[in-house]
Amino acid sequence: MIQDKEKVIVIDFGGQYNQLVARRVRECNVYCEIYSYKTPLEKIKEMAPKGIILTGGPNSCYEEGAPTAGRELFEMGVPVLGLCYGAQLMMHVLGGKVERADAREYGKTKTYFKNDNTLFNGIKDENIVWMSHFDYISKLAPGFEVIAHTDNCPVAAAQNVAAGLYAIQFHPEVLHTVDGSKMLYNFVRNICGCAGDWRMDTFVEDSIKAIREKVGDGKVLLALSGGVDSSVAAGLLSRAIGKQLTCVFVDHGLLRKNEGDEVEAVFGNNGIFDLNFIRVNAQHRFYVKLAGESEPERKRKIIGEEFIRVFEEEAKKIGAVDFLAQGTIYPDVVESGLGGESAVIKSHHNVGGLPDYVDFKEIIEPLRDLFKDEVRKAGLELGIPERLVFRQPFPGPGLGIRIIGDITEEKVKIVQDADFIYRDEIAKAADAYKAENGTAAPWMPDQYFAALTNIRSVGVMGDERTYDYAVALRAVRTVDFMTAECADIPFTVLQTVMSRIINEVRGVNRVFFDLTSKPPGTIELE
Ligand code: XMP
Repeated sequence: MIQDKEKVIVIDFGGQYNQLVARRVRECNVYCEIYSYKTPLEKIKEMAPKGIILTGGPNSCYEEGAPTAGRELFEMGVPVLGLCYGAQLMMHVLGGKVERADAREYGKTKTYFKNDNTLFNGIKDENIVWMSHFDYISKLAPGFEVIAHTDNCPVAAAQNVAAGLYAIQFHPEVLHTVDGSKMLYNFVRNICGCAGDWRMDTFVEDSIKAIREKVGDGKVLLALSGGVDSSVAAGLLSRAIGKQLTCVFVDHGLLRKNEGDEVEAVFGNNGIFDLNFIRVNAQHRFYVKLAGESEPERKRKIIGEEFIRVFEEEAKKIGAVDFLAQGTIYPDVVESGLGGESAVIKSHHNVGGLPDYVDFKEIIEPLRDLFKDEVRKAGLELGIPERLVFRQPFPGPGLGIRIIGDITEEKVKIVQDADFIYRDEIAKAADAYKAENGTAAPWMPDQYFAALTNIRSVGVMGDERTYDYAVALRAVRTVDFMTAECADIPFTVLQTVMSRIINEVRGVNRVFFDLTSKPPGTIELE
């Protein structure tokens, strides 16, 4: 938890957009944290927030046992903004009335605004908002006035300026609400009076100071995977404590083409950071352990266990350390129990149980207050190259789960080469689109890669019969990686990729494109 900074607190009532609310606030350069509605009022007061936002939630506030808040929360003298459930709860607790409507109001909805007030200053009289509610506010609490309504909903927003209380029935945090970000900006900057000094350059500076204070002359150990989070954590720690930091980078032989060297180029001896960098070339060990294993879950387990073994051996060589650093980020903290007191150990797929194997006193998690996009900004501030900072998600078990069937060095090489060509051609096509249209390509996938099917089939190359592998190309558009749609990469791009793979990658005579969405498929192809 960041101390001594002006902050807004988001109180979570179980709504699906709680993290989105916090991100939108941070986009206004205002720091904010999410806490459960069960957090004691005393604790909230101690944090001295400049403002409080109550999120939506799935319940009806008038039902027995529904999540609630005490009247005192609204009487702290701190501005409170209730969103959806939060708005209804505010009315319910303060003496208004909330009832079930005959019909649910859902989706983009035309809304009429009064904009002679601070909350809606600059918002048009008529605008589109995102609604999602069954219950509605049928009677205002004393002291409130309506400042927005729709054709079906008499109270789309209300305020009690003297008390600093604001209620919005719709979801300003969702992009479908036109000017929703402006409403949140008006609340945190103009009503709560936040200065807006939460910036990544100050975060980096402040963190470096805080890390130095905490670590003193102690030793810190970090498992560096080359992914965004651990890379930024390594950069930050290195700037703070230099050679007191040791990073262990295990090359398990299942990385993308050239990836091991790229990580070493940035963090190794000739790189841009000052730290002790240990690269363990454990490729062969992993291939031996994986030999003959085709069952996906077993493969993951073998990779995970071997990773721990290698890391443990390195940690033993280093001896006792004072701190074990981890690249935990804020969504990990929220998802594992809403910012509790205790440090949450990130259950990285590869590094599960790691602390048991390492002799250390304390965990240090320099990114635990940041969202992913903020981690990326911090990475750029630290001078980490863009290609590392903006890399796609890459699973811990790496190419091990992009090869169907058993894993061999030869198959790894095929996937690496095919994947390299695929990424190269997508990048070229995306750049060309941007140069021509001035905007990002609408088909640009959020994650894309080549995988090796275990299918071999007859083909013909030149005058020769071949019996080679089929490579599958995957490309998905997704927001949360829980569901995904196939990205519609232009056919001409796919054809270029296909022909380059067939011509340049030995052992491949067919290329498939995977059209499956998730569900029923998964994003990875194993
Ligand atoms: P699936 O395949 O489950 O993937 O639809 C969803 C997202 O999670 C990533 N993924 C992993 N990431 N270790 C990771 O760090 C893993 O074992 C792992 N398995 C899947 C996947 O790349 C996608 O972004």
